[in-house]
Amino acid sequence: MQVSFYGHVRQYQNIKSEIDANIHEVLMSGQYVMGPMLKRFEAELARYHGTKYAIGVGNGTDAIWLALMALGIGPGDEVITHPNTFFATAEAIWIAGATAVFVDCCPKTKCICPANIEAAITPKTKAIVPVHLYGQCADMNAIWQIAAKHKLHVIEDNAQAIGAHGPGFRICDRSDAATTSFIIQKNLGTFGDSGAVVTNNPDIDARIRKLRNHGSDKRNVHSFGFNSRLDDLHAGILSAKLKHIDEWNDQRRKWAARYSAGLKDCRTIDLPVELPGYRHVYHLYVIETKKPEWRDMLLDHLVKAGIDAKTHYSIAIHKQAGYPWGKNARIVGPLTNAEANAACCISLPMYPELLPQEVDYVIEKVREWDAKFAAEAPEGKGIAQRGKTCPSCSKA
Ligand SMILES: Cc1ncc(COP(=O)(O)O)c(C=O)c1O
Repeated sequence: MQVSFYGHVRQYQNIKSEIDANIHEVLMSGQYVMGPMLKRFEAELARYHGTKYAIGVGNGTDAIWLALMALGIGPGDEVITHPNTFFATAEAIWIAGATAVFVDCCPKTKCICPANIEAAITPKTKAIVPVHLYGQCADMNAIWQIAAKHKLHVIEDNAQAIGAHGPGFRICDRSDAATTSFIIQKNLGTFGDSGAVVTNNPDIDARIRKLRNHGSDKRNVHSFGFNSRLDDLHAGILSAKLKHIDEWNDQRRKWAARYSAGLKDCRTIDLPVELPGYRHVYHLYVIETKKPEWRDMLLDHLVKAGIDAKTHYSIAIHKQAGYPWGKNARIVGPLTNAEANAACCISLPMYPELLPQEVDYVIEKVREWDAKFAAEAPEGKGIAQRGKTCPSCSKA
C-alpha cells in the first residue's frame, strides 16, 4: 500500500463544486487583486477567529514580518522565539531587521517553554513570537503574563494551528496579532502561497493594509511599503474551505486518537502529548524515537513500506548554517529539548482525507519496527521527552 503525506487532491474532489463556484465567481467579477472576494474572506476569517480584523497577505512569512514592522520592531530590537519550528519564523524576524533570540521549548509539547522566556529578556527585547507547533497552542496564559509584566508585544505564529485553542483562551485573545499561512499543506490551505494576520488593534490593521499594498491606502499616494497581497482567487478557494475547517480538524483529531490507541504500547517511541484543556488540531502527528539513532532507521522502514513519512524539523534553526548569524540571532541556551526533538521526530501522514485502512497500515508498520527493537528500549520517556519538565508541560 502507498500512503501519501498529503490529501490535497482528495480534498479538492470532496468539495470541488464549492471551490469551483468561488473561482468562477472571481473570474467573472473582473476583480482579481484587492477585490470583493478578498474583502469577503477577510471578514469571514476575522469572524472565525473572533478578532476585529483580518488582513490577507502574500504568505505566512510575510505575515510575521509585516506584523513586526507594523509594531515598529526592527534593527536593534530583540524578538524571543524557539528554534524547533519552520525556518520562516526566525527568517521573518531577520527580514524585519530584528535579532531572533532562541530559547528552549517544552520537552513534551515542543512549544516555547514560558519558563525560559524571562531569562532571555533584555532592555532590547520588544516581542515574543510563540509558535503553535504541530497544531497545539503554546501556553499563552503564561506568555501573556510575562509579556504584560515586561511590556512586550506578542505575535502568535499560528501557521500550524488554525482552529486550536487552549484552556480559557482563543488564538489572539490578548496578543497584538496572530499570523497564519495558507500554503496547501496547512490545515486551511490553498493551491499556492498566501497568508494572513488577525488582530484586534485598529492601528496594526491599518498599518499592515498599507504596508502590503506599496504603502498606499489611497490611489497614487504612497509611503514605504511592499507588495504582499492575498489575491482574490486564493481568497475564494479559502472562503470555500473555511466552512469545513472545524469538521476537518475534528477528523484530524480522530485519526490522531486512532494512531495513539494503535501505538500506545510501542516501547521504542514516544507519542505526541496533548495538554488537558487544549484543542490540538494535529497539523502534524509527530512521534519521537526514544533514541536518536533509531529515527532514520524507522523512517527508512516506513518509506520502504510505501509510507510517505517525513521529519519536522530535523535541523533546529540555531544549527542551520544558512541562518544569517551575527547580529541577527542570539542563543539563550542550552537548547537541549529543541535539539532532541530535531534528532528524534517523525511525522506520520495526517490529513482529514486519510482512509481508516491507511491509518491502520501505518500503525502496523510502526509496530512491526517496534517489535524488532522493543527489547533495547530504555524505560520511561526517550531523550526528546525527558528534558526538565517545565510548568506548562507538567500539566500533561
Ligand atoms: C510555523 C510556521 N511559520 C511560518 C510559516 C511560513 O509560511 P509560508 O510558507 O506561507 O511563508 C510556516 C509554513 O510554511 C510555518 O509552518
